Amino acid sequence: MTMTMADTAVSGPTPGWRNHAATLELVVTSVAAPARDIRSITFADPAGRALPGFVPGSHVVVHAGSHTNAYSLTGDGTHPARYSISVLRVAGGNGGSRWLHDELDEGDLVTVGLPRSAFAPVARARKHLLIAGGIGITPMVSHLRAADRWQRDAQLLYVFRESSAAHLPDVTALAGARAELFTDRASFAGGLGRALCSQPVGTHLYVCGPSTMIDVVVASAEAAGWPPSRIHVERFGMDALDAGDPFRVTLTGSGRSVDVPSGTSLLEALENAGASVPSLCRQGVCGECRIPVTGGRPVHRDHYLGSDEKQAGDVIMPCVSRANAGTTLEVPL
Ligand code: FES
Repeated sequence: MTMTMADTAVSGPTPGWRNHAATLELVVTSVAAPARDIRSITFADPAGRALPGFVPGSHVVVHAGSHTNAYSLTGDGTHPARYSISVLRVAGGNGGSRWLHDELDEGDLVTVGLPRSAFAPVARARKHLLIAGGIGITPMVSHLRAADRWQRDAQLLYVFRESSAAHLPDVTALAGARAELFTDRASFAGGLGRALCSQPVGTHLYVCGPSTMIDVVVASAEAAGWPPSRIHVERFGMDALDAGDPFRVTLTGSGRSVDVPSGTSLLEALENAGASVPSLCRQGVCGECRIPVTGGRPVHRDHYLGSDEKQAGDVIMPCVSRANAGTTLEVPL
């Protein structure tokens, strides 16, 4: 997964913020149900102050009842007065989306993490080709807002179920004829093939949606000759993860070695061994669980570390990242 910083500056927290451990206490100012199983929620500062800015494609971690989940911000990131997210109800998820659908009302206070950038547009790109499936449209909405604001060349392919189309009015208003809409796989496959083969040199590709769709788009792009450095992927939290290989971790502080079986996260293995590692989202997006690595080679699966940090291999987000089968990681715990 390639992630890059955008050229748009992110402003820091506004002075005077109640900012505990990089979180904000915000009030729900509106909720809406724009499509089946989708709830759009808007947050603002209870005192009406401006919120920290964010780059396109940013997400926030929302504390939903006893759960935390990451959601893409769909508004304009320049001096925002509000943060807006759209939440798909996930029947088999961790319960966070159900809480946001069923329990949250206007006027409620919610803890929200500061915006994180993980899927920003590349400043030097000649053109931005955005491909979204279903609720994967959410980061693309902020991309389109920024493209509109900064007059960047952007094109969107959006495939969705007719009964649960999110943000269609935004897409239409922001992209107009530069948006191609699809409601069936066959026509999407045709549009994708045409789009991948007709871009000017220097175009960057961004894709977000269900894992199977992302895999198809990335494979099609690579088959069409797109270099990996121009393909940017945003996966949804746990949707991105398979059970992973079994490996071993050595806690150099105590000298103990612990097996990490397939299906158990490194974070869980460390916790089971009595190590104290702070965590928040447990989905590789918030940055809270970051720990150093002093030996072995991590397999990074998070949405938080930059590509340089991932390449250096001396830190890991143990909630999602692991190591290859049969290898050993060393952590100074
Ligand atoms: S707990 Fe959030 S990145 Fe690991």
